[in-house]
Amino acid sequence: MSNQPDEITVALLGGGTVGQQVVQQLTAHAGDFAARVGVPLRLTGVAVRDTSLQRTGIDDSLLTADAQALAASGADLVIEVMGGIEPARTLILAAMRAGSSVITANKALVAADGATLYATAEECGVDLYFEAAVAGAIPLIRPLRESLAGDRVSKVMGIVNGTTNFILSQMDESGADYAVALAQAQQLGYAEADPTADVGGHDAAAKAAILAELAFHTRVTMDQVSCEGIEEVTAADVDAAREMGFVIKLLAVAERATGASGEEGVIVRVHPTMVPREHPLASVRDAFNAVFIEADAAGEIMLYGRGAGGQPTASAVLGDVIAAARNRFAGSRGPGESIYAKLPVLPSSLALTRYYVNMEVSDKPGVLAAIAQAFADHGVSIQVVRQDGHGDEAGLIVRSHLAEAGALQQTVEYLRGQDFVKSILGVMRVEGEAGQ
Ligand code: NAP
Ligand code: HSE
Repeated sequence: MSNQPDEITVALLGGGTVGQQVVQQLTAHAGDFAARVGVPLRLTGVAVRDTSLQRTGIDDSLLTADAQALAASGADLVIEVMGGIEPARTLILAAMRAGSSVITANKALVAADGATLYATAEECGVDLYFEAAVAGAIPLIRPLRESLAGDRVSKVMGIVNGTTNFILSQMDESGADYAVALAQAQQLGYAEADPTADVGGHDAAAKAAILAELAFHTRVTMDQVSCEGIEEVTAADVDAAREMGFVIKLLAVAERATGASGEEGVIVRVHPTMVPREHPLASVRDAFNAVFIEADAAGEIMLYGRGAGGQPTASAVLGDVIAAARNRFAGSRGPGESIYAKLPVLPSSLALTRYYVNMEVSDKPGVLAAIAQAFADHGVSIQVVRQDGHGDEAGLIVRSHLAEAGALQQTVEYLRGQDFVKSILGVMRVEGEAGQ
């Protein structure tokens, strides 16, 4: 075993929220890391934009503004916690070409161009790990990539964005408006100054694409994910959901589905969703994340924990560091890309789901019958109707049984055009109910 290294060198790209925690943990538990890997880990540099800033726990002498040189320095491991697509992608590719295994927390990059990262890792014979890219501290990538590799996953569904879960929890608990809850999330540091990626659902969509690719052995990119954010969710929607025994969550759903010609495919979608209060996902509050996995042999699995923050994310990064370092020490490699199934990514209109429709209608004889007929004409069966009359108009809430999302959308579009429908106040999918 004379070729075994006597240390594992580590270069860090990014010394922000996550990067500083990674260094602090590596330093504080250096002895444990050495014992777990077999040799000590040595940090060779930390690339940042501004080297004059103080970084908690990072020795100034390690800081460099030359990220390119550090990435290509040939360290055993390169950790990328800078974020964004560029220059992160160029730096990761340079690191791999210099023989380094790469650990990244960058969901945006993995979801947008995982194919290039995987292909370059394969070409260069190095590892690519990205546990921290989805749901922070929650072990999710490794279970899908390795623990469940012998099973057939049928659905992955969960709350993978802490900011939006905090906002929706606040709206539910205190009756706050969306704008007030968003301001609170910003004050507490959950939401960015520009919260678009979180509230628009794009952060969750990137994570959903990554999960779908691993679960179904099929390449799924961010632009194939049907995505709706929470900006349109009103206090009235939250109240109506509460009255019916539901809570609103931004869910990411990746599932096997059947295409128009009967072919097997996958659908990946992110949208605000009404979840029954007794469903385990309903009790996931504040900035926590949780993901449900359904697999043929394993059945249902739920993983819950902190999806964001420096320390929780560093935990996931460091788990990958240990795995990649052990591989280096042993001269072996971790798992590569698995996309052999090559299933088509189907339009989300084919997803089987339930709808909740909240509308103001004329309170006249025959209106309820006409609305019921509109659902029937589109092949959608009604599960619950609640009418609340006030003068010439009535508030009407309809919940459907399972139907294709496309048929449900067409029903709503048809109703929008009818003069007895004064306004459609809210439309939302319902997930997590048992039965049809
Ligand atoms: P952050 O606090 O903004 O830190 C980014 C770091 O990268 C900073 O140190 C910054 O340098 C450095 N950097 C950015 N562009 C650079 C460039 N062109 N050259 C050199 N250095 C550059 O971000 P973060 O919250 O730690 O997030 C890092 C990654 O982890 C992202 O991919 C994010 O999506 C992912 N992630 C974060 C969380 C979380 O809760 N924070 C959770 C899961 C995943 P300066 O400090 O000099 O500006
Ligand atoms: N902005 C993300 C969230 C951070 O709120 O969950 C973790 O990816």
